[in-house]
Amino acid sequence: MDVNPILSQQCESEVAEALLRKIHSKTARIGVVGLGYVGLPLIWTFHREGFPVLGYDIDRSKIDHFEAGTSYIKHFGISRMQVLAASDRCEATTDFDRVPEADVLLLCVPTPLDAHREPDMSYVENTVRAIGPHLREGQLVILESTTYPGTTNEMIVPICEQHSGLKSGETLFVAYSPEREDPGNPDFETSTIPKVVGGEGADASIVATELYRQVIDKVVPVSNTKTAEAVKLLENIFRAVNIALVNELKVVFHAMGIDIYEVVDAAKTKPFGFMPFYPGPGLGGHCIPIDPFYLTWKAREFGLHTRFIELAGEVNTAMPNYVVRRAMEALNDQGKALKGANVLCVGLAYKADVDDMRESPTYPIMDALKSFGATVSYYDPYIPVIPRSREHVAWTGLKSVEWKDESLKNFDLAVILTKHTGVDHARLPSLIDCIVDTRNAIPGDLRVHRA
Ligand SMILES: NC(=O)c1ccc[n+]([C@@H]2O[C@H](COP(=O)([O-])OP(=O)(O)OC[C@H]3O[C@@H](n4cnc5c(N)ncnc54)[C@H](O)[C@@H]3O)[C@@H](O)[C@H]2O)c1
Repeated sequence: MDVNPILSQQCESEVAEALLRKIHSKTARIGVVGLGYVGLPLIWTFHREGFPVLGYDIDRSKIDHFEAGTSYIKHFGISRMQVLAASDRCEATTDFDRVPEADVLLLCVPTPLDAHREPDMSYVENTVRAIGPHLREGQLVILESTTYPGTTNEMIVPICEQHSGLKSGETLFVAYSPEREDPGNPDFETSTIPKVVGGEGADASIVATELYRQVIDKVVPVSNTKTAEAVKLLENIFRAVNIALVNELKVVFHAMGIDIYEVVDAAKTKPFGFMPFYPGPGLGGHCIPIDPFYLTWKAREFGLHTRFIELAGEVNTAMPNYVVRRAMEALNDQGKALKGANVLCVGLAYKADVDDMRESPTYPIMDALKSFGATVSYYDPYIPVIPRSREHVAWTGLKSVEWKDESLKNFDLAVILTKHTGVDHARLPSLIDCIVDTRNAIPGDLRVHRA
């Protein structure tokens, strides 16, 4: 374990000391608000380490799954849901009157962008307004949602104080700890991913750091909440910018007859100063395409422009159109047009081995293919039917085609967009004349067009 200067300190207030004792004895009840991709693994981790847990969500169906022991996030798995359902230390509820039952409240609700690509803080704000009137002395509230620097101090603390009559740092403790969950990554889980924590004042820092130290191998305390908020943004901006760079190089190298994957794989043999990023059909997921713009928005308050972020966004959002152009060229080589073609998009999830299709670049690619007159189908073993969503209503209810020779050979073109493990992409060229591969899923096959 690391030597941590914060831990040698004692809490100033007796209220914080009392909470600390509950944390150390693992009798503190951990409330997790928002039981999605982030909240679910978090509640599992605290429960596994012996804490009593209580989940809150406004979505009744998630509570029903908790009670029935059934799964609603594929990679999380049914066996863990069954353990939680059978446990007398785990409950889930839609009832915010039960907020006083928790000693700690971890807020894991969405932070998307609105229609003008500005931060949509309504989920966070609604959550804090819902828990605020029920807060009691001695609780610790930690925001885990990704957000702009200043959120905890400027939004969470005032709403909590106003609705509860409690005083942050004295009778109520507030902190921020960014979530670094990487769904579907078999190499890491919540407890093995170092956790950054910043508190509103010394006591909040101590109790929040100690809380995570009970369940996470390495905790990294930073000076305050806005620093912790900035850490998460740096991590995701770093990814967005580097992915944009490699996407731009992909286009340039393709024009020069150079294989970007061969270049990256050779470059990564350099043992220092280089980290490989791979190109793709565009950015997807709930984080990388969105989070950087939280900083862009906040920077405007200081009269500053985030030019790298804007440029990376521009390059990455141009990628779906590039893929469609490559698809057109590929069909054209065979004397065919996109208009009237039967096209299969292989992969709807934004990345491999998850069932999450939020912000997936497959959607704009399907939209564009359709607008050029193609008949568009998709295959994704993780998403048998496209659920209703606000942004992609036109695709609601479409079913994944079957991964069978009889179905596959009906297509004029397949565009590979997600490289799920276990999908035998190499089989496609023998069944479909024209293949466009955006993920290097069929390396070395000269019949396949790269995009
Ligand atoms: N998904 C990831 O891999 C990931 C990784 C790191 C950080 N994050 C961040 O974590 C946060 C949560 O993301 P997620 O992917 O878990 O979202 P999600 O959509 O999977 O889950 C959010 C949950 O919050 C619930 N919810 C919404 N409003 C609520 C309210 N007022 N009260 C209670 N529950 C409410 C929703 O019903 C849903 O179950 C976001 O800020 C995201 O940027 C996500």
